[in-house]
Amino acid sequence: MNTQYIGKPTSRVDGRAKVTGQAKYAGEFQVPGLAYGVVVSSTIAKGKITTIDTSKALALEGVIQVFTHENVSGLAWFDKSYKDQDSPPGSPFRPLHNSEIKFSQQPIALVVAESFELARYAASLVHVEYEHSEKPIEAELRAHLDKAFDPGKGKQGYKKPKNRGNFAKEFAKAPIHFNSEYYHGAEHHNPMEMHASTVIYDEDDHLTIYDKTQGVFNSQSYVAGIFGLSKKRVRILSPFVGGAFGSGLRPQYQLFMAVLAALELKRSVRVTLTRQQMFSFGHRPATLQKMSLAATEDGTLQAMRHEAISETSRFENYTETIVDWSGAMYKCDNVAYDYQLVKLDAYTPLDMRAPGAATGVYAIECAMDELAHKLNMDPVALRLKNYTEEDANKGKPYSSKELKACFQQGADRFGWSQRNPEPRSMRDGSTLIGWGMATGMWDSMFVPCRAKAFLSADGKLTVSSGTSDIGTGTYTIMTQIAAETVGLPIEQVTFKLGDSSLPLAYLEGGSATAASVGNAVRIACENIREKLIRLLSKTSYAPLADVPAEELVFGSGKIQLKSDPQISISMSDLMKLAGENYLEDTATAIPNMIKQMPYARNVHSAVFVEVRVDEDFGTVRVSRMVSAIAGGRILNPKTARSQILGGMVWGLSKALEETSEVDANFGRFMNHNYAEYHIPVNADIPEEFEVIFVEEHDDIVNPMGTKGLGEIGVVGVAPAIANAVFHATGKRVHVLPITLDKLI
Ligand code: MOS
Repeated sequence: MNTQYIGKPTSRVDGRAKVTGQAKYAGEFQVPGLAYGVVVSSTIAKGKITTIDTSKALALEGVIQVFTHENVSGLAWFDKSYKDQDSPPGSPFRPLHNSEIKFSQQPIALVVAESFELARYAASLVHVEYEHSEKPIEAELRAHLDKAFDPGKGKQGYKKPKNRGNFAKEFAKAPIHFNSEYYHGAEHHNPMEMHASTVIYDEDDHLTIYDKTQGVFNSQSYVAGIFGLSKKRVRILSPFVGGAFGSGLRPQYQLFMAVLAALELKRSVRVTLTRQQMFSFGHRPATLQKMSLAATEDGTLQAMRHEAISETSRFENYTETIVDWSGAMYKCDNVAYDYQLVKLDAYTPLDMRAPGAATGVYAIECAMDELAHKLNMDPVALRLKNYTEEDANKGKPYSSKELKACFQQGADRFGWSQRNPEPRSMRDGSTLIGWGMATGMWDSMFVPCRAKAFLSADGKLTVSSGTSDIGTGTYTIMTQIAAETVGLPIEQVTFKLGDSSLPLAYLEGGSATAASVGNAVRIACENIREKLIRLLSKTSYAPLADVPAEELVFGSGKIQLKSDPQISISMSDLMKLAGENYLEDTATAIPNMIKQMPYARNVHSAVFVEVRVDEDFGTVRVSRMVSAIAGGRILNPKTARSQILGGMVWGLSKALEETSEVDANFGRFMNHNYAEYHIPVNADIPEEFEVIFVEEHDDIVNPMGTKGLGEIGVVGVAPAIANAVFHATGKRVHVLPITLDKLI
């Protein structure tokens, strides 16, 4: 398809604002009379507050108020049944509700002062005494597996897919069969920008709130709902988000606390969390997985079972689709699933980039590598042997699945055919070299969204939707779609987002935004084009009036006759001629269920990795990585590549670096800072880090054929690295991250 902007590697339209500091984040908006709130966090994980003495803090000049459970009860309408758009079943945590402590670092007070420094100092003077619970703290998943329960038993929540065939019988019968366990601990979102809310108070309880969020409407209904305000009084703004990865899907407690203080004090208040406090409101849950695979000698899968035991809090049942992927990725007639939760004394886990898939695909893809080794079969060949064109969990074919092209092109680029299958066979002096691969998979979602297009007679187009850009490139791709569809130079198009006064959009999550908001933008802009055509007739602009639409070309701000480009009129002139100051349209994109429902809709990937392991020290370095993605139509290869690269970096981190270590006695995440929560630095990332987008056409997922790339980049990376480490060392490490102590 011949396009001017869609599919072109366009630089970020917000790039300059971001690198020059002009882009403002939630904690950076300044208003006269702003007060600063600092949160006091609990130092125990389970028990209750017996005394909270705020007198020393309040005695300081400039300290305005200290809010605790003793002076706010009844102020918020935090109904027990309250849910936000991303709430799991249960009863959400209510800050400052009572003296009970449910998790370490629970917010227990908000100190509000005239300056941030003063508030922070005063917070250190709040004296708290606790009574520890008589019940022991339970914080380490693997120590409490005996308490696992099936969360699907209730009315709400996750339902695991149906078993098929007869796993037990076929597993026992198959010539090759084995069981394997995989575990990783909690991981925390660590976006550069800490969570913050700046609440600007106007008389009569009108609030304008700059909030770090992935969904302004979610924050808006949360604030309106629990404080009993009409939505008209609550405007949420989130023009820029400094990374979120899922941490902004739920309204976090700094929003609640800032609003509480603003309403009570009738003045503007900002609350910014510290890096340590970023470890107190949700994480990717620690999960233990058990895989059982059985195959014939030629590698045909006969039976598989995928079991997962994951953690949740005492007050909500957070669930993930972890086990489903196994039976969706491979053709196998005898499949069993089990999924259970253990309640721990911790905050509720929270969606983190590719929630469920990053965990579940790690297990199945490592198990497939173990099977390939047992069969003495090439790992790619084993995957092709069990390839499927349908998601057997759903009994539906994939709307498109160019995964074979991913294997082919990824393997070619990587040089996979040169691999010696024998572990420890490829070395460079004392460095063991390992090549590993894995498959990735994620959903291609399309949720109803709205967008508005406004074309003014000066030829400037403003398109808007209340979505967000968490660094994914939303601003840029929506600008491209709008410029392309109306036919304007991209410089004349502005896209607005992150404002609850804009047309309704869903949370930016699940990799759904490009498809969902993108189609709404497309429709609104197509409608503008229609209106321009109507103006041609209305003005009787002779050479172009009443010409069928398909004989017209929209481009460079002009409408031209396809057969004779000399005959044209600028959109601006046309509007002036017609006496229209502007044209506008608000459109809703709604999935075509009849077209979609018969199909499973997913994005796929193949990841190839080379690691170098120091034989003496056990240190692992990733030296090369190729990720081939089948992601439908790529709107912007530049921002798309960045999305995948970011996912690859995170996958490397998951495999080798990061985990939140919990102290089982205190129920506290111990490494709650950037010094001890290890993530890769530039020096850890190889130069050969390649992304391939294979060609994939799909008009079933949505009319633009785009699949969304926010999450797929991370999915297959950790298992590919784990498999490469096995190939290098002959040692199968079943616990992430693969640190040197596990290899020597
Ligand atoms: Mo993502 S975990 O849907 O922000």
